[in-house]
Amino acid sequence: MDKVMPAYLSADMVVFASPIYYFAATAQLHAAIQRIYAIGKPPKAAKAALLLSSASPNPYAGAIASYKDMCAYMGLEDAGVITAAGDENGSDAKLAEIRAFAEALR
Ligand SMILES: Cc1cc2nc3c(=O)[nH]c(=O)nc-3n(C[C@H](O)[C@H](O)[C@H](O)COP(=O)(O)O)c2cc1C
Repeated sequence: MDKVMPAYLSADMVVFASPIYYFAATAQLHAAIQRIYAIGKPPKAAKAALLLSSASPNPYAGAIASYKDMCAYMGLEDAGVITAAGDENGSDAKLAEIRAFAEALR
């Protein structure tokens, strides 16, 4: 958290990213989120996004619901959710999709 907190406090957008482990984001990401409780919404950020990867096609419902509830609670606008399943992970097409998403946020 010594590295996460300064980045979080100065962030102009928050991007949560995790592989899916048993239909949820990882324990590591949840541990960081639960420490963010001490701050709440980052002072400069208005938007958030979620990047998820998985082996199977659609295990995302729980992680997305949790993320959307968190955005609403913190007052962050959900800018989008991108998922990558199986062979999409690390593929040129998925990387291009993420780059286009990031460009559109400018
Ligand atoms: C402990 C564990 C639990 C996992 N649970 C799921 C799951 O519920 N659904 C799924 O589609 N993939 C599951 N996976 C696969 C990971 O989501 C997948 O390996 C990852 O998104 C792809 O990243 P990688 O290419 O770095 O492994 C699990 C992997 C691990 C290690």
